Amino acid sequence: MTLRAIVEGVGHYLPDRIVANSEFEKTLDTSDEWIRTRSGIERRHFAAEGQPTSDLALRAARAALENAGLRADDIDGLIVATSTPDLTFPSVATMVQRDLGMTHGFGFDVQAVCAGYIYALATANSMILSGQAKRLLVIGAETFSRIMDWSDRSTCVLFGDGAGALVLGAHEGEGRNTDRGILATDLNSDGNYRDMLYVDGGVSTTGTSGKLRMQGNALFRQAVDKLAGTAFAAMKKIGLKNEDIDWIVPHQANIRIIQGTAKKMGIPMDHVIVTVQNHGNTSAASIPLALSVGVAEGKIKRGDLILSEAIGGGLAWGSVVLRW
Ligand code: UT7
Repeated sequence: MTLRAIVEGVGHYLPDRIVANSEFEKTLDTSDEWIRTRSGIERRHFAAEGQPTSDLALRAARAALENAGLRADDIDGLIVATSTPDLTFPSVATMVQRDLGMTHGFGFDVQAVCAGYIYALATANSMILSGQAKRLLVIGAETFSRIMDWSDRSTCVLFGDGAGALVLGAHEGEGRNTDRGILATDLNSDGNYRDMLYVDGGVSTTGTSGKLRMQGNALFRQAVDKLAGTAFAAMKKIGLKNEDIDWIVPHQANIRIIQGTAKKMGIPMDHVIVTVQNHGNTSAASIPLALSVGVAEGKIKRGDLILSEAIGGGLAWGSVVLRW
């Protein structure tokens, strides 16, 4: 028998305020048409004034617990993937832990920007397989609206706020690639690409939280190859081929990157969960949000083989293969 980290529940939360592309036409030299055709984005949600990342994370966590039929008491720990924490410290995870009424277990944040959820899932999987935890909440939560330069049309039209969460529990599997649960992970980073996507402030440099800066086109040219490469590497680890994938649930940065990666992997677009049109790029929240939407729409079903991949600041990129 082999331990497996199986998805027991999924949920998400999106802030009430929805901003259409046309809103940006009032203040910037941009158009709904440019944003739509270059990125696939039509609208995004923004957190309310005073609404921190931990609030989004908490609501997604509650939804995932409810979906799993579990209570906070049943959870051993929380891992939150975020690059937009409420404060420099303590972690968002400990604030969610408090707000769930938990005084047991542990919570910590993982920061790998848009690849953060992949890193958090890989970490949670390792903790479950090593016996350190039996059940974990893995949350991706972001308020990227807080780090936008609203005068920079090349970035501020692309991002949104939101949160998604999974409950992962330890179960016995057979050690085969037909098992449910996380089957393979693949993590990569290369700090030489630092200038492609970064925030121009920080605790130990400027003493400010800074604004997001991106060389979008240069990053675009890296994305498809690296995403298809990490997907292939993860599938190879478990002896599966791309045609075995039921759903790609990718990071949602740009519809053209999503389409290019699916094409390179030989997967038709009707096997890809796409939410970028409604959410924009929500960084570490985009994959759990897309998983939750895919389940709610009745697309993702028990037993389906799911490949998730993401790339972002670092650069950091990676993938997870799991059977739902
Ligand atoms: O999640 C983290 C990872 N992030 C990504 O993977 C994002 C990767 N990059 C992208 O998604 C795309 O590169 C963008 C959507 C950011 C941009 O699309 P692009 O096709 O690469 O456009 P571009 O950057 O080459 O810009 C084309 C033109 C430029 O004008 P010129 O130099 O050709 O005159 C830009 O100044 O579009 C201009 N432009 C805009 N025009 C209208 C840039 N932003 C805008 C805008 N509205 N909002």
